[in-house]
Amino acid sequence: MRREPTNVERFFGDEEIIVSKTDPEGRITYANDVFLRVAGYRESEVIGQPHSLIRHPDMPRAVFKLLWDTIAAGHEIFAYVVNLAKNGDHYWVFAHVTPTFGPNGEIVAYHSNRRAPDRAAIAKIKPIYADLLAEERRHPSKAAQIAASTDLLGRVVSQLGMPYDELVFTL
Ligand SMILES: Cc1cc2nc3c(=O)[nH]c(=O)nc-3n(C[C@H](O)[C@H](O)[C@H](O)COP(=O)(O)O)c2cc1C
Repeated sequence: MRREPTNVERFFGDEEIIVSKTDPEGRITYANDVFLRVAGYRESEVIGQPHSLIRHPDMPRAVFKLLWDTIAAGHEIFAYVVNLAKNGDHYWVFAHVTPTFGPNGEIVAYHSNRRAPDRAAIAKIKPIYADLLAEERRHPSKAAQIAASTDLLGRVVSQLGMPYDELVFTL
């Protein structure tokens, strides 16, 4: 069951790291205490659940497509993400998501580390995500939404003259 956003923002310490791990399908296999505290869940409520459990409706689909395309290809990605806590509050993170490889080079798991983001960066990323979301809302099907906002994200990034993963470090 998805809760309605309360529009109340939560914060966590600069020295803290929110950690989770997933199986190759994105189901949560591990969550640290900081994750559980900030997201407001008990461990038993998150293990085995899809990571979209904490998906916030303000997040553009294009960002998750880029995330999955990148990690499934065996690369790391850095991304700003706003997440939904169990009670509907939200919290911004700067995430570093990486694949874990098995002995034959196959992807056996994924791992995400999140730090408290730079507030100036969040102020810049919010209007970009809002534009992507507005673009998505113009299209009826999920596939069309992803195609349109991925295209817009590409244009935003090329206007800024660098790939998204570099863009995040300059915000
Ligand atoms: C290791 C890992 C961590 C993830 N962390 C988050 C997260 O913190 N918040 C989030 O909304 N999605 C996260 N995702 C992406 C979700 O799997 C999913 O793609 C996203 O929530 C969009 O869900 P939807 O396609 O059902 O809309 C993560 C995926 C992986 C592999």
